[in-house]
Amino acid sequence: MHRRSNAAGTVTTGCQARIIPVIAIDGPSGAGKGSVSRAVARALGCRYVDTGAMYRAVAWLASDRGLALDDEPGVRRLAEEAELDQDGGTVTVAGHDVTTLIRNATIDAAAARVARMPSVRRVLVGRQRAYAALGGVVMEGRDIGTTVFPNADVKIYLDAAPEERAARRAADPAHGLGRNASTLSAVASALEARDRSDRTRDSSPLVMADDAVCVDTTGLVLETVIERVLAIVRRRLSARGGAGPPV
Ligand code: DC
Repeated sequence: MHRRSNAAGTVTTGCQARIIPVIAIDGPSGAGKGSVSRAVARALGCRYVDTGAMYRAVAWLASDRGLALDDEPGVRRLAEEAELDQDGGTVTVAGHDVTTLIRNATIDAAAARVARMPSVRRVLVGRQRAYAALGGVVMEGRDIGTTVFPNADVKIYLDAAPEERAARRAADPAHGLGRNASTLSAVASALEARDRSDRTRDSSPLVMADDAVCVDTTGLVLETVIERVLAIVRRRLSARGGAGPPV
């Protein structure tokens, strides 16, 4: 039996040592984190965790239960007690399938408020760390490389010009928006407000980790971004040595 230590801790994987990687993918909204992280997880054979969906699910549950969004102890209790899962792209909270219900402008704003609550963050960060104990993981969010897994094997910071991020959001069918000019400008200002909230909050603000690799996706098609990110992952994992996953 061989053992190897990494960000997820010491893992025994059978008779052959194998890296159980933790890949952190952070960045602002609309930078392409979701599509890229899913593709990277598929290529690595790792679990994919969308931590934004966790903040969204807690915000949805708070609103479903009629909880005021300034009731931090109440929201923290929900975050602690609610069953929260995301498997095969389906997000469930307290037995409700909220996959599509958490993708709208109301939950965008509510999740940003929930994400500002330090006690809620502590609970969700604990849950996020527990996912990595189950095996390799590609985790996307805002604070994965800085707070959740400061020792992640690979840290990527995905960014894009604000106007391109807004255009991508507006065209995203999950958000149910069209492409006309007024919708685009409404999406752009909502995105800017959320960016400001994420970057300026006291608790784990969105910031690039010192040892992250920044990938600017402005003007790039998704396939190119995925290739670049996989190339970085491949380099980083092989620099760490050992039999890496098939990337
Ligand atoms: O990535 P997203 O838009 O689904 O995230 C929803 C909100 O949660 C957004 O305001 C950013 C915040 N968030 C966070 O603060 N930390 C994370 N790790 C993930 C998301």
